[in-house]
Amino acid sequence: MGADFPADFLWGSATSAHQVEGSNVNNDWWDFEHRPGSAARWSSGDGIDHYHRYAQDFALLRSLGHNAHRLSLEWSRIEPAPGEFSRAATAHYRRVLTALADTGMTAFVTLHHFTLPRWFAAAGGWLAADAETTFARYCRYVSAELGDLMPFVCTINEPQMVALHGYLEAYHPPGIADETLWKRVGGRLLDAHFAAVRAVRTESDRSQVGLAVQLPLLAPARDDEACRRLCRLMRHEIVDRYLDGLTGADRGDFLGVQYYRKQWVDPNSPTLFGEPPAGFRRTQMGWAVHPDGLRQILHRAARTGLPLYVTENGVATEDDTERVDYLHSHLAAVAQAMAEGVDVRGYLHWSAFDNFEWSEGYRPKFGLIAVDHDDDFARIAKPSAYAFAKVAETGRLDPTG
Ligand code: BGC
Repeated sequence: MGADFPADFLWGSATSAHQVEGSNVNNDWWDFEHRPGSAARWSSGDGIDHYHRYAQDFALLRSLGHNAHRLSLEWSRIEPAPGEFSRAATAHYRRVLTALADTGMTAFVTLHHFTLPRWFAAAGGWLAADAETTFARYCRYVSAELGDLMPFVCTINEPQMVALHGYLEAYHPPGIADETLWKRVGGRLLDAHFAAVRAVRTESDRSQVGLAVQLPLLAPARDDEACRRLCRLMRHEIVDRYLDGLTGADRGDFLGVQYYRKQWVDPNSPTLFGEPPAGFRRTQMGWAVHPDGLRQILHRAARTGLPLYVTENGVATEDDTERVDYLHSHLAAVAQAMAEGVDVRGYLHWSAFDNFEWSEGYRPKFGLIAVDHDDDFARIAKPSAYAFAKVAETGRLDPTG
């Protein structure tokens, strides 16, 4: 029987700086975590001390069959004050990316994954008049300094979630709930992506560059006009405006697709999303597991005509057998989409390690690898890490088949 995935398929996992590094004290998230009354209940604190342990972490991931890895650069370390770039932080990330390249894993480097330098947030964040040029200046700097070590660049992680969580749900910084602003921020982020693509290309011809979008499968909670109307609006704001907006020379070279769940849009719910109907498995986050949604979303994303990489997909659970099921069922959905003609070139699981899950703190467990915070941050690979390694090493969903 032939393999389910081609030999050059990229296999790996993803993290982001603030969720693993520790002590990112100069960004808006640290501020939000320590602001009384904010949605964040925990401090990210030491993270999982990846800042100091990146070399061992990469070696472990390589030993688990990964041939690619996604991480993010912490903007607030690299540019601690406007226009002031830290040579030490730049040198740190050069060591990190060199260590990654030395393992043989292909790097996917995200330039902005949710966190903003405090000074940028204080000046108005994405709503400031010069936000786009300020972001582009940072992107040019890192591309000039590190472009040779960044074969894949993700400009912005999940612009939809930055807009939705930060400006409508008040669940992420800046903690605003405003029905107009979140849509404006979405537009700003798309423009910032285009500016970042230009910036990266100006400084480096070594990088393929793309946007990483979260694409939930959205459905109306009930078969009535109010639900259908709101579902159309949310689908436009969260999915279509980004995919349809990726036109023109600056759209990038690839698209990162991030999928977790199906959601039911409900105008009667204060969050605009209803509870999943009975029969759906729920994760630690309360999210509904629906593997075929990934296949459907990949088809939707394929209409951009861009090559696709799944840059995040995963499950929060204390029960690792559930993660093995989630992995297999979602990889089967990817294989099916590919068999149906969708150009998917890699799969990066969220996440490599149990880590800081934003406003939910360290409670949700998304990792293939556990971390013992009481035992010097010891890393413990879970059975799901070995299940993933088998698929990555053989290209087969059923390695015995
Ligand atoms: C984000 C990650 C996050 C994950 C699980 C995505 O929205 O990019 O940072 O941890 O989903 O919630």
